[in-house]
Amino acid sequence: MFSAENSLIFTCRYGMMPGKKGVAMVGLMSAMGVEMALLQEQMTECAHQEIGMDTFVSGKLYGQDAVIAVCGAGKINAAICAWNMIQHYHPQWILNVGVAGSGDDSLEIGDLVVGTDSVQHDMDTTGVGDPRGYVSKVGIVRFPCDPVLRDRLLAAAREVAGDRVQAGTIATGDQFVSDPEVKSSIHALFQAKAVEMEGAAVAHACWMAKVPYGILRAISDNANGDSPRDFPAFAAEAAEVSQRVIFHLLRQGERP
Ligand code: ADE
Repeated sequence: MFSAENSLIFTCRYGMMPGKKGVAMVGLMSAMGVEMALLQEQMTECAHQEIGMDTFVSGKLYGQDAVIAVCGAGKINAAICAWNMIQHYHPQWILNVGVAGSGDDSLEIGDLVVGTDSVQHDMDTTGVGDPRGYVSKVGIVRFPCDPVLRDRLLAAAREVAGDRVQAGTIATGDQFVSDPEVKSSIHALFQAKAVEMEGAAVAHACWMAKVPYGILRAISDNANGDSPRDFPAFAAEAAEVSQRVIFHLLRQGERP
């Protein structure tokens, strides 16, 4: 499912116009094209730029200057894309948006999770005495999401999905979680509400560059034995819910 068809097909409503230089932008990143497609459809005044293997589309989203990118699955793809976005577009904040497996049984497919913080659940130097998830050099386990962005996201998510919204830790690793024991151990270690493959890598890049970041995920599967079937069945539907929240956030016209 994490395949080439996930790359953005850059149809943009008003064709190709150069992006403005020196204007503060919001940055939006997802792993798969389906997680960004509706947002991209709404973008106007688009300009495209290839950097390495990533394509960035900058333009206007509901009157705001924005840049979007589809990074592919996994932490390294996400970190490289986030870093390039930061260096070339200088976004005032970056939001990682998309789908995830549920981190505990209180969540159902279609529910939303707004990140309070993110962890790299597969980062493991416990053998030399570090806590699980500890990221050397940075020196932390939990990457806190920007509190203003988190609260704005929560408000927008509740407008869209009512009480089917939770805030909590997002656990990231280079692994599609489909084993309930793996899910339980991630939950026991980090009390994760969602498991996915990019959020904490975007956070890591943002932390190093001092760029505020946020994560919004809609649940596409329960990170268990049903996931190989549920993920392809529900990913598009869940991705639509998460993008509706971003519409809401941006339409408010306020920059977090
Ligand atoms: N993204 C969506 N579902 C996922 C899962 N079960 N594991 C990791 N990433 C996911």
